[in-house]
Amino acid sequence: PASEAKAMMEAHALLKRFYHHLLVHTKEGQAALDALQARGWTMDTIERFEIGYAPDVPDAAAKLLESRAFSLVLMEKAGLLLKREDGRYVDRFRNRVMFPIHDHRGATVGFSGRSLGEGQPKYINSPETPIFRKGTLFYFFHEARVPIRKRQEALLVEGFADVISAVQAGVDYVVAAMGTSLTEEQARLLRRHAETVTICYDGDRAGMDAAWRAAEQLSALGCQIKVASLPDGLDPDEYIRVYGADRFVGEIAAARPLMAFKLERLRHGKNLQEEGDRLRYIEEALREISKLSSPVEKDYYVRQLAEEFSLSLSALYEQLSHHKREQP
Ligand code: GTP
Ligand code: MN
Ligand code: MN
Ligand code: MN
Ligand code: MN
Repeated sequence: PASEAKAMMEAHALLKRFYHHLLVHTKEGQAALDALQARGWTMDTIERFEIGYAPDVPDAAAKLLESRAFSLVLMEKAGLLLKREDGRYVDRFRNRVMFPIHDHRGATVGFSGRSLGEGQPKYINSPETPIFRKGTLFYFFHEARVPIRKRQEALLVEGFADVISAVQAGVDYVVAAMGTSLTEEQARLLRRHAETVTICYDGDRAGMDAAWRAAEQLSALGCQIKVASLPDGLDPDEYIRVYGADRFVGEIAAARPLMAFKLERLRHGKNLQEEGDRLRYIEEALREISKLSSPVEKDYYVRQLAEEFSLSLSALYEQLSHHKREQP
């Protein structure tokens, strides 16, 4: 019911302030604060994202919530507490850097807690609850929505850390999915707000594969897609730390159309001097070209292939027509 959702949001808002206070103003939070600053985040950034610290105590949140007369049964449903075998309630998040997650109206509805250092798992997220449905949210969407609309462009990154560093670098039209692949609902949400989506996922294999999938989903909805691929397996956060904000902005501005990204991915690991690989590449490229809806774009890439491999346009178009028929 609505009143339960409201209490859950109030509890999240209370804990957000509590965790933030511990991080910024207490000795307990000092090591976490040092770690965040060592990653290059300023106090302004830490304030803006309301980052916090959940102490290394079994029931700090449980005690606070109880003292403010929140129902612990409800708090367990909200994902903030866990019920132990002996019936006692303990905190879900302990000794973690806490990133509050907001819904689109700005209500605090969940947390992602990062371990300090190398502790596993790296992130613990709030579970699915009545107020926190991962597949419907983007991190930072409540703030990015206006800049996204203004530009008619969204920058999509993989992780929270990437959003935070991008914003610190001056790029505010940025969001991240909640550590999962894009859902249909998330894709539609982005489409409703932006003409163009620039994808800048981690520059490793997993990131590239995920970028490809997200791109296919979004372009199926009619989004214009650009892809920025970062070097050396870096993610945006690491890239900004290594090369600085200006070069990151340059990478985003230099993002390429989806087809250029795909063609490069298809080349990857192939030796185009070899006949087998070359034919395989041409075949795979045609398959992707066949998915383009614009005849002009199609023609552009077919001609590019024809030129690169000295093939006749008629042969390529003949081949392309086979793919057409395979499409559902
Ligand atoms: P940092 O190491 O803090 O920079 O994190 P990252 O954002 O670079 O993490 P990574 O590239 O490994 O993963 C991208 C996103 O996947 C994260 O932002 C999380 O949302 C999610 N993720 C990563 N590790 C875990 C994990 O151990 N558990 C869960 N639930 N999600 C994770
Ligand atoms: Mn503050
Ligand atoms: Mn990654
Ligand atoms: Mn990453
Ligand atoms: Mn990272």
